[in-house]
Amino acid sequence: MSDIESFIRRLPKAELHLHLEGTVTPATLVELSRRHDAAPITLPEAEALYHFTDFNGFLLAFKAVSERLLTPADYELAAWRMAQRLAEQGVMHAEVYISVGVIYHWRNPDPDCFDPIFAGLERARLRAEIELNLTLYWILDAVRHFPLDETEKVFHKAAQLHASHPSVVGIGLGGDERRCGSEPFRAMYARAKEAGLRLTNHAGETTPPQAIWEALSIGSERLGHALSAIDDPQLMDHLKVRGTPLELNPTSNVRTGVCPSFAAHPLRRYFEAGLLVTINSDDPAFFGSALASEYLLAHTEQGFSRDELRELAANSIRASFLPDVTKRSWLSQITEAH
Ligand code: ADE
Ligand code: ZN
Repeated sequence: MSDIESFIRRLPKAELHLHLEGTVTPATLVELSRRHDAAPITLPEAEALYHFTDFNGFLLAFKAVSERLLTPADYELAAWRMAQRLAEQGVMHAEVYISVGVIYHWRNPDPDCFDPIFAGLERARLRAEIELNLTLYWILDAVRHFPLDETEKVFHKAAQLHASHPSVVGIGLGGDERRCGSEPFRAMYARAKEAGLRLTNHAGETTPPQAIWEALSIGSERLGHALSAIDDPQLMDHLKVRGTPLELNPTSNVRTGVCPSFAAHPLRRYFEAGLLVTINSDDPAFFGSALASEYLLAHTEQGFSRDELRELAANSIRASFLPDVTKRSWLSQITEAH
């Protein structure tokens, strides 16, 4: 491991944009398939699923994996393996999207079917806290292009769980922005906020800046991707003045074909413009990404110095939903990391 790689490993970091389903590797998928399928898929077949060339192909692959995550034990296994990989990279906190919208749409419309699955996730979370010193928060994610009443169910379940489980920290919207923006979710976001949930939203990944303005207008606090903000100087200024945290995912954007290369990603320009940027891996098993390698690529492809990488790590803490006292403690450890 090079000097810079071991520095990145030692730097305490938070991952703020990570989909549990997107952490399931082909090998784990085969294991899940053996649990459930009469004719289990082979490793080459599983690997083939992950070979897509555009955003639509990615969404289909994401669906194929989600369909094989069935039982509470499946979710517990996926979450535990995810936690192990995070801890290996020096990640001490992660806020993880769970695509509850996919469960309600493809598998079971009963809102309470998520409860036993959630119990499995919580078992993995507690084990990660004890054995790996890694804290996890859950963000319940709906799929924006599915029927609105399904999103309503996801956010209602989030509010219900949040009341008794502080680990359920927020809600989010993934899926295809080209098919549905944010406006239809205005009232649901207001209700989620009233319930004490934090509001995230995928915005401007495959869509123009207008989609980001719309996401902000319904109260989204933290934005996933925000790739197209670079095309709108007024929006850049607005994001800076408001200090809106951005969950950027450069490798993901390259792999889904919405950005030509890591070097061309606006990360550096956002950083220099004073935006509150964080880097994240999104769906690491699909994109061959990992948080530590995003930091390394920021260094090799965009010239981020050690101190600038330290600033990215500090931003990941500032933009997290951790309590202030915990943030202060991690920030001072980041200052001391060498
Ligand atoms: N679900 C998982 N990853 C996603 C992404 N990058 N964009 C939209 N929906 C997603
Ligand atoms: Zn995402």
